[in-house]
Amino acid sequence: MAEITLTNVSKRYADGTIAVDNVNLDIADGEFVILVGPSGCGKSTLLRMIVGLEDISGGELTIGGKEVNNLAPRDRNLAMVFQNYALYPHLSVRENIAFPLRMAKVSESEVTQRVDEAARVLELGELLERKPGALSGGQRQRVAMGRAIVREPEAFLFDEPLSNLDAKLRGQMRTEIARLQKRFGTTTVYVTHDQTEAMTLGDRVAVLRKGVLQQVGTPRELYNSPVNLFVAGFIGSPSMNFLPATLTGHRLRLPIGEVDLPSELTAGLPAEGRERSVIAGIRPEHFEDVSLIGEEARHGTTFSATIDVIEWMGSELYAYFPVRGADQGHQAGMAELARELDQEGVRSDTDESQVVARLDPTSQVRESVEAQLWLDVRRIHLFDPETGENLTLPPGDPLGAGHRNGDGDAHQGVSGPDSQTGQGDPLQKHDDAYGAPGSTGSAATGEHDPSGETEPPRSGGAHRA
Ligand SMILES: Nc1ncnc2c1ncn2[C@@H]1O[C@H](COP(=O)(O)OP(=O)(O)O)[C@@H](O)[C@H]1O
Ligand SMILES: [Mg+2]
Repeated sequence: MAEITLTNVSKRYADGTIAVDNVNLDIADGEFVILVGPSGCGKSTLLRMIVGLEDISGGELTIGGKEVNNLAPRDRNLAMVFQNYALYPHLSVRENIAFPLRMAKVSESEVTQRVDEAARVLELGELLERKPGALSGGQRQRVAMGRAIVREPEAFLFDEPLSNLDAKLRGQMRTEIARLQKRFGTTTVYVTHDQTEAMTLGDRVAVLRKGVLQQVGTPRELYNSPVNLFVAGFIGSPSMNFLPATLTGHRLRLPIGEVDLPSELTAGLPAEGRERSVIAGIRPEHFEDVSLIGEEARHGTTFSATIDVIEWMGSELYAYFPVRGADQGHQAGMAELARELDQEGVRSDTDESQVVARLDPTSQVRESVEAQLWLDVRRIHLFDPETGENLTLPPGDPLGAGHRNGDGDAHQGVSGPDSQTGQGDPLQKHDDAYGAPGSTGSAATGEHDPSGETEPPRSGGAHRA
């Protein structure tokens, strides 16, 4: 087991794409860190640099205190599990799991002992003599994990290992991975674009946008104190509502009415009396049906809204209603953010925004009828419309200092070479380094980009997490 440290790590591909931009991240020994962000933000690239399948263009990577920038993957002793876990179809489950040990010339008795132990932990004991073709998707994924476990690596690296599974199985495997990680206490870096996995699996979550690290914190910290619009919109489901608003001193004018903000919220704002445009962020659960609020009511404001659509989920109720007053600038900005977050855009053809409120399921609100709703004003976030920065984080909050939105170029859409599949040659050069056949990338096959290696570390926007 080992700690992993990234210092100003960058990746520039041969075509000039900056996939990872000056990332600083300390992953403690035994820690479970989730790397999350939308498709194309550089997650796989970062993971592949850690494991050694991709050259590092700038900065320093250390594992267990030792600089490993130029160390071959097999010498890093890390185990990687991919989305497209490829198993050898002609080998039994036992031999698939044993494969990396065979490559490392481990003795027969130790192979048996380690494979049996991994099979026991993963509940694969009954299946050891089967071929992969006779396994379900979840069982195959467990075999791929078994192959990672037997190597007793310094760290586990997962690249969206569950995204090919159906929703139910994904939920089960999520719990299983969390349980395994706790049991082994092995340093783990887990890449996903799924905010639910990010929130539920790890000790800490690192949010990446266009190659730039936005914020690193516990799921709670990210949820309660997002440093900017991007993190606020990414973490949480349904997403935070963003409304155009005007702030004058402590007074906030929202499309649903005017409220006086508590001083805790405005403490970090510059004391200017003049009007200023802001974006108000309100989580769905900070609304409630007025008739279901007691003593708490004094901490908020009430307003009426005509509910468009109701989704009753049994344990909660989602009420959707439109609000007016969004100008074109707001709409354009929000549509852009929604695109980046892979979410549905707001209605950009009108001056309306759609708001979702999460209400108690006993609420009697009705579709197409005016409802009386309550908003908890203590929980409003205000964001700068230009920079996206959260203006309402307590001053001195370490998470709030200097973590502005990165503004690197967008390079969306193209998936990296990690999506390669196929049954690779078992004797592939670096197969033994991460124990998954058929998933090698350019670095593993020896194609280096000399120009990438001389790229100096880029400055600006760096912070240590
Ligand atoms: N071999 C490559 N050459 C050039 N650009 C690449 C290569 N691999 C990935 N990229 C680009 O780098 C960016 C980050 O990719 P990737 O790390 O795969 O993102 P993620 O895993 O977050 O979806 C994307 O813009 C992608 O198109
Ligand atoms: Mg990826």
